[in-house]
Amino acid sequence: MVGAGSNQTIERIKEVSDILDIVGEAVTLRRAGRYYLGLCPFHAERTPSFYVDPQRQLFHCFGCGVGGDVIRFVMQHRGLSFPEAIEFLAERYNVSISKTLSESTSSKSTLLKYMTVAEEFYYQQLRYAPEGSVAREYLRKRQISDPIIEEQRLGYAPKSWDALVRHFQKNGLDLRKGAELGLFGVSVNRSGEKFYDRFRHRLIFPIRNSTGQVVAFGGRTLEDEPSSGNEPKYLNSPESELYRKRTILYQFHLAQEACRKEKRQVILVEGYMDALAFHRMGFYRTVATLGTALTPQQARLIKRIADEVVMVYDGDEAGRKAMIRNFPVLVNEGLKTSCIVLPEGMDPDDFFRHHLMEDFETLMESRKDMGEFVIQEITKGWDGSTSGKLKILSELFSYFEPLGQPVIQSEYLKLAGKALNLNEEVVLKQFKSWLASSKHRVSPPKTLHKRNSKDLVSSCEITSSLEEEILKIIMAYPHLVERVFSKDCWRFFIENLLEEENKEEVLSRPMYLIFRAIHEEWLEFSKNPWNKNWFCIDHICNRIGDAKAQGLFSRMAFECKFYDNEETALMLLNDYLGAFEKKIIKIRRERLIRELAEAEKKGDFESIKITLQKIQSLGGIGDHKELNVKAERGW
Ligand code: UTP
Ligand code: MN
Repeated sequence: MVGAGSNQTIERIKEVSDILDIVGEAVTLRRAGRYYLGLCPFHAERTPSFYVDPQRQLFHCFGCGVGGDVIRFVMQHRGLSFPEAIEFLAERYNVSISKTLSESTSSKSTLLKYMTVAEEFYYQQLRYAPEGSVAREYLRKRQISDPIIEEQRLGYAPKSWDALVRHFQKNGLDLRKGAELGLFGVSVNRSGEKFYDRFRHRLIFPIRNSTGQVVAFGGRTLEDEPSSGNEPKYLNSPESELYRKRTILYQFHLAQEACRKEKRQVILVEGYMDALAFHRMGFYRTVATLGTALTPQQARLIKRIADEVVMVYDGDEAGRKAMIRNFPVLVNEGLKTSCIVLPEGMDPDDFFRHHLMEDFETLMESRKDMGEFVIQEITKGWDGSTSGKLKILSELFSYFEPLGQPVIQSEYLKLAGKALNLNEEVVLKQFKSWLASSKHRVSPPKTLHKRNSKDLVSSCEITSSLEEEILKIIMAYPHLVERVFSKDCWRFFIENLLEEENKEEVLSRPMYLIFRAIHEEWLEFSKNPWNKNWFCIDHICNRIGDAKAQGLFSRMAFECKFYDNEETALMLLNDYLGAFEKKIIKIRRERLIRELAEAEKKGDFESIKITLQKIQSLGGIGDHKELNVKAERGW
């Protein structure tokens, strides 16, 4: 069971699992703005108050307060312990959990070596084997030139059940490991296990991770009529220790380099051949999703190298729909998005068969902003009726809500109005009421930020919402946490109060657990900031452990506010921190005063003096008359 709890395993599970998949099996969800909404499976309700945030992989029920990450959901829903939930998800997503950290890193390099052996084998087959001529001929037909074949190490998997099996055996490699990597299938009969090649008579596309190491293969059929039999056009490696398809983008490693040299803009396409078509034209700022829907992890990967994404998908209904689906995912990572619609029925590879790079550059100049494209496409479905108008508007709203930036949002709303013959005010009004209607909106954010900090101190002392407000800002602007933890009052708070038994006087226990988790995560992050993204909600959720605190934390995630600009957030945070500082000083002073009374009882003059000094260094004694007198007497 040690394996199931290891951080690596948990991280891997988080990486590959999808809360929408898992929750979706238990709850019927529908999209509501940036969230999904359904009836809570943990308490009886008629109107949905159960929210899932696919971006942050969190759920929260505003009815019963249960919330957390995917692991928490599985625990609650299936009544499992933490390790059992991990085991469940590991099985579900094919993650092996039996390895300790060192074992798995050593096996990782072994696995990478295995992939290189396979890559080289396929490449040699393509290059030199007589059977490889079919593949060579095919590539020639598709205008893939030798330099690209070399650079990509494209390959050919021979028409045989055991060509790679024999190559592995000859080199003394472990076939079972090969099977774990998806290179071999296994059949079991009376004489034991039998391994066979997964890729047979296919053109092989190595798929690399962001450092350029091969982690999977895609194999294209070489039959002209792929419909013969059940064989798919493309056969891909299954998920493995090395290959988490949700986190990989085809050709990312080369795009990364090109973006660094040229500019922070990438072209996103759908397939192997499309990406390579761009390479063929000498253009390397291209990545591909390989036929699946874009995941938030992939969008984050793009954000690392670019600020703008231009989608160039198939010029058909499916392609346009897919681009629209990707829109919120990209926007949520703060990426500027636009698209190019190719002539009906064409994909980028087809396009370059008839056109030059200059032609594409012309298309690039006239690329369409995704928000405008969404309006154009969705209003196409308008039947002219008033009820139809409302339906279309709601659909558009759900795309524009997550944009967050009011200027852009209102620009799009204006455009939407134009397309539907509605004046701007009406659309705005409709948008506001759509936002307010409980169906679409997470409980309306409190308007605490309108008050000034004086009010805050008093109101928050009673309700403890001061910490909540601080937390909400951090959750929206995680990098501001540095401001929090570098403040003196926080240092004191964390070093002294956080570790003490009686936290009740400062924070509620759940809040205490949350801040402790954030602080731990922060410390770890400060040690190696290049290692991962700061403020991974689900990592923190994991550290929190306690169900009630996780519920509170997930609620904060749903209630956190994004302001018009970061300055506003920062100003507010400073206000709250100022108030918090006062709160802490007050607590410290009260404690010291208690200590003073103790010392007086004992007649311990030395500690009376020290305590008084401490009280004074806190910024005076305030209105304690008696103490003032003592201080004057020089105690
Ligand atoms: P397409 O069917 O558009 O193929 O699928 P394509 O990329 O244009 O390929 P060619 O030009 O016919 O050779 C787009 C992507 O979807 C994935 C592949 O990654 C493909 O590149 N796909 C498609 C599969 O994984 N399996 C399939 O059976 C089909
Ligand atoms: Mn194609």
